[in-house]
Amino acid sequence: MTNYKPIIAIVYASATGHTESLAQMVADALVRQGAQPDVFCVKEFDLTELCCYDIVVVGTYTWMNGEIPKQLHGLFEAMEQQDKTSITGVFGTGDRCFATYCGAVDLFRDMLHAKTILAATLKVEQMPSADDRMRCDAFAESVLTKYSHHKGVTLAANF
Ligand SMILES: Cc1cc2nc3c(=O)[nH]c(=O)nc-3n(C[C@H](O)[C@H](O)[C@H](O)COP(=O)(O)O)c2cc1C
Repeated sequence: MTNYKPIIAIVYASATGHTESLAQMVADALVRQGAQPDVFCVKEFDLTELCCYDIVVVGTYTWMNGEIPKQLHGLFEAMEQQDKTSITGVFGTGDRCFATYCGAVDLFRDMLHAKTILAATLKVEQMPSADDRMRCDAFAESVLTKYSHHKGVTLAANF
């Protein structure tokens, strides 16, 4: 099958704007590769819609002692119930001053690896910069490549 167009959701939480900026950079990277992701702050995302997406990408900051912020607990639990057919990725921002740098990314990574087909992870310290654009491109490429390999579909250059 060629020219299949995956439906992609990026769902993020952000308290001070860093993860929101990274979500936009990841979305832009996916767009550069021909995708059209829907970007949601988690407050605006209806968890019952999870199953409508071929690819779900989570964005999280890290809270006290490496924890997942409360706003994302519902999404975490809903994604734990996913079958092994959904393709996922997780990115996040954190601060190396803390003992568990981007610990929330690691917690999502471990769960998504067990419960879904995890394609890629990405960690950025604080506010993303222009230098992170290439890392976002690599992240987006990994997600789309995992999707096309797993589903046995070919994505055209501008699908
Ligand atoms: C009270 C508090 C606790 C934090 N704990 C951690 C932590 O354990 N690990 C980490 O990597 N960053 C930690 N951070 C840093 C934030 O995750 C980081 O600033 C992040 O970029 C914020 O993202 P946001 O702007 O999207 O809210 C903490 C920040 C605050 C204010």
